[in-house]
Amino acid sequence: MLFRHLVLIISTLMVANAAWSANLPPREKFKRPDSIPAPLSNPLTLEKATLGKTLFFDQRLSRSGGMACATCHSPDQRWSDGRTLPLQAEGVSNARRTPTVLNSAWLSALMWDGRATTLEAQAVLPITTAHEMNFDLASLVGRLQQIEGYRPLFTQAFGDDSISQQRITQALASFQRTLVSNIAPFDRWVAGDEEAISESAKRGFAVFNDKNKANCVACHSSWRFTDDSFHDIGLPSKDLGRGAKVPAQVTLMQHAFKTPSLRDLSIDGPYMHDGSIRGLKTVIKHYKSEAIQRESLSKDMQKFELSDLEESDLIAFIQSLDGGALKIQAPMMPE
Ligand code: HEC
Ligand code: HEC
Repeated sequence: MLFRHLVLIISTLMVANAAWSANLPPREKFKRPDSIPAPLSNPLTLEKATLGKTLFFDQRLSRSGGMACATCHSPDQRWSDGRTLPLQAEGVSNARRTPTVLNSAWLSALMWDGRATTLEAQAVLPITTAHEMNFDLASLVGRLQQIEGYRPLFTQAFGDDSISQQRITQALASFQRTLVSNIAPFDRWVAGDEEAISESAKRGFAVFNDKNKANCVACHSSWRFTDDSFHDIGLPSKDLGRGAKVPAQVTLMQHAFKTPSLRDLSIDGPYMHDGSIRGLKTVIKHYKSEAIQRESLSKDMQKFELSDLEESDLIAFIQSLDGGALKIQAPMMPE
């Protein structure tokens, strides 16, 4: 009798569980791609990426000789800097938080306002920006030509040892394309391992996708959890973001910033273009009810309510997108 009861309870549980799984939104939409994209004009090779890695960590790419790309995009800080605003940003109007360069191979719009469209073009900006590396490309080429140890690296990457702006930016872009998020528990679940994430994270996945609940997926879509588009989510910052790049009549672009990926987030922030929010609980609080109501506010920013359980489920889901730090071996600096 007891046995029959147990069987009944277990099978009822299994049916309930199956029904629950069947109700989950499809996971395939979030499946990782199998290969890294690269433009035809700059095919990805190991040799170019190796040169690019050396350049990325080399402080001699800055005028002062004291700042590398890796100073702000550090492997120990999820390829960002862990700061609210970057080094040397004091007094810079509309200074913005350093984004990660993880998964940048897939970016179609770079920078918070999308002002660069390729990694190759983007690489020029930090080198030449006054409050960043403050150098110019011609002087940089001259400086690298004096460093004997760079010659074999350029030769392996490009066939001869001539150094140019184009080769520098192609190598930097190639290295960054190799920086791809580690497999996260969520990816193993998408691949069919039911045990890979907690029941709480699975429920959080549903909340994330539910139009009548958090509806985060309206903007944080695809395997990188971004639509690569720009939205005003109602933060108080005075920065117009994309709005400063387009005519003022384009209402929805005022105060709009690029949707960041939700993979491998730093545990506690700082989050957002201005580093103004710390902690995922505070992020969710913002989305629930605190967005500034203005004309430019995205139509997908509807207020919503979540129970405490739904909220902790949502956080458990976002944490399941963390594949852990992508560590690499720092390169030797050529002399
Ligand atoms: C002083 C800190 C600092 C340094 C040094 C720096 N960056 Fe950045 N990086 C930033 C900030 C801040 C942004 C965002 C700027 C914005 O959107 O206005 C950014 C944006 C980027 C992006 C765009 C990412 C995205 O999601 O759109 C890439 C790629 C990038 N940097 C690569 C590099 C490379 C390559 C170098 C070296 C040549 C470099 N950075 C040096 C702070 C830095
Ligand atoms: C209308 C589109 C939209 C919706 C809906 C949306 N987001 Fe965002 N999200 C963005 C944009 C755009 C930013 C960057 C905003 C900025 O910095 O000005 C962002 C930033 C974030 C960040 C900070 C990431 C970082 O690296 O700084 C987190 C975390 C986040 N969103 C989580 C969520 C969650 C959770 C939900 C659902 C409750 C959600 N988002 C709903 C567009 C959206």
